[in-house]
Amino acid sequence: MFNTRRIFPPLVLAPMAGLTHVALRRLLAELGGVGLYYSEMLSARALRHETPAGSSRLSRSGEDRPLCVQIFASEPGQIGPAVERGAAWSPEAWDLNFGCPAPGIVKQGAGAALMQRPDLARRMSAEMRRCVKGPLLFKIRVFEERRRFFELTDILAGEGADALVVHARNPGQKLGRPARWEYIAEASSRLSIPVIGNGDVRCGADVVRMREVTGCSGVMIGRAAVERPWIFREAAGLLGAPLPPLRYRRKSEVFLRLAELLDEELEHPRDLYRLKEFAGYFSRNFKFGHQLWKAVNNAGSLEEAAGKAEEFCGRHEEEDDLRERSLVS
Ligand SMILES: Cc1cc2nc3c(=O)[nH]c(=O)nc-3n(C[C@H](O)[C@H](O)[C@H](O)COP(=O)(O)O)c2cc1C
Repeated sequence: MFNTRRIFPPLVLAPMAGLTHVALRRLLAELGGVGLYYSEMLSARALRHETPAGSSRLSRSGEDRPLCVQIFASEPGQIGPAVERGAAWSPEAWDLNFGCPAPGIVKQGAGAALMQRPDLARRMSAEMRRCVKGPLLFKIRVFEERRRFFELTDILAGEGADALVVHARNPGQKLGRPARWEYIAEASSRLSIPVIGNGDVRCGADVVRMREVTGCSGVMIGRAAVERPWIFREAAGLLGAPLPPLRYRRKSEVFLRLAELLDEELEHPRDLYRLKEFAGYFSRNFKFGHQLWKAVNNAGSLEEAAGKAEEFCGRHEEEDDLRERSLVS
């Protein structure tokens, strides 16, 4: 059974709306190195009306194991029905979002709004603990005032969290601002539950550095997981974890495989939109990546987008090579 003290490799895919769908998770599983997958963030209110057949956002492949489903909610009463309904997907773990600063979420009183109300944060975390039988995580951001940050971590740990994910930025900070790893270090040394650090990990060496600098139990990777889906493999290799053979020789093969998996897993026409979201990050692998991004964005179908990507990569063969030594097992 999944246990937050034994995430191995200690590498976690971050929840990212529009990106960490079942197709990306399957692709990552093929590449290897992920110790825990997160779903996209789901509305607890909407989740209570979902059915497994009706929601591609909740479908899973079985390769994306262990999977943590993240929800957002603004009242304790929304949690029970959502967890009950979500059990149909058999997630290995659950997470309640405490850090999302998106105006649409905060306006509802969810995400980062919960960080501002310690009493509500306590009641929400206690209700999650009551409803979730298995491992429970909370993903939080930090406060400038360290005292308020540790007040929050103590509440969440005290209400029975099995691990905390610390995204080391405050809710007002854009993702371009440097992450403040010192908060991860301090939380790791103060708390007796595992702390998973998040923010600004861009390559395998950053994973090793975050672990050394902060003493965190695990490392969560967000944007770099989309830009370079092989980053988990690279990091796991550095940590000495066993890996499956590398199936892909070219970055373009990784892109085409994602298009194929979207076609298999998700319903049209949303899958094209998801490939476009992916391409926004993936195109950063190439010096003239904006051309790739533009071509995919102008495509009217998955097939056309895949064809354009193949053409682009064919013209930039040198950059397309994936047989970096660190990736081949
Ligand atoms: C497009 C996008 C969507 C995101 N959606 C969520 C989300 O649904 N839930 C959440 O907790 N964090 C979300 N995040 C934040 C990431 O999980 C992560 O905390 C952040 O990107 C910092 O990690 P990184 O520096 O490795 O990218 C999102 C980030 C991005 C870029």
